[in-house]
Amino acid sequence: MAPTLEIHPIAGPLGAEIHGVDLRAPLEPALVEQLRAALLEHQVIFFRDQPLSPSDHAAFARSFGEPALHGAYTHVEGFPELTILEVTPESPPKIDTWHTDMTFMECPPLGSILRARVIPPRGGDTMWASLFAAWEGLSDRLQRYLDGLEAVHDFRHGFRHSLAEPGGEARLREMISAHSPVRHPVVRTHPESGRKALFVNRLFTTRLVGLSERESDAMLAMLFEHLETPEYSCRFRWRPDSIAFWDNRATLHRPVNDFWPAHRRLERITIAGDLPR
Ligand code: SIN
Repeated sequence: MAPTLEIHPIAGPLGAEIHGVDLRAPLEPALVEQLRAALLEHQVIFFRDQPLSPSDHAAFARSFGEPALHGAYTHVEGFPELTILEVTPESPPKIDTWHTDMTFMECPPLGSILRARVIPPRGGDTMWASLFAAWEGLSDRLQRYLDGLEAVHDFRHGFRHSLAEPGGEARLREMISAHSPVRHPVVRTHPESGRKALFVNRLFTTRLVGLSERESDAMLAMLFEHLETPEYSCRFRWRPDSIAFWDNRATLHRPVNDFWPAHRRLERITIAGDLPR
């Protein structure tokens, strides 16, 4: 029998901490269904004290779909799906922008599962924001204008700082040739809940199709700022062995880089997604 989950929402629009579950493999189908339902309702779910091995982490992710590999990052040895996100005194934070993971792909991931390995003594939280709340917070008139538009998402734009580093172009050559810019609807409909989501992000979205460059830049700047409204967000304080599992079709996120030069290491698996519609 599936355990009784304790679910504690942590903010108005999204985010819930879940207690009463051990995520080490194997998970019963009934439990997977309960977690799927919690993810659908809360958009990002958190767990504490889950000392998963890399194979437990991989098995947990596989309960929800196939992994999507990310060739721009190093990975845990023997686990190409387990991306390492690490900041050390010698390697300052690189991600400082609100984003939805890998929207440069034709089919961006369904979700990501991030596990904390090394957490600084203070700072280093992560924030998430709800694309549903952002959409619902726009006026009817602007919603009508945006619905049906497409936007360009570009790997090169998101990784422009890495590409400018010595050897950056050579290191990322394969990713560049595998990922030409793609178009996605500006407003996507969540395939399970049917809710509408404002699907652009500061890291990868470069252009609204059909608008002049000036119009597109101004509209995107307004939408990015709107998406980052504090009332659409939640913030999670990590501890070692905490897990965050977010719906990448419904959220964007960013780390809070207030801890460097302290050490912080997280490991992430993204789960393959479908074509945004
Ligand atoms: C990510 O962007 O997936 C990582 C977030 C974090 O490092 O907190």
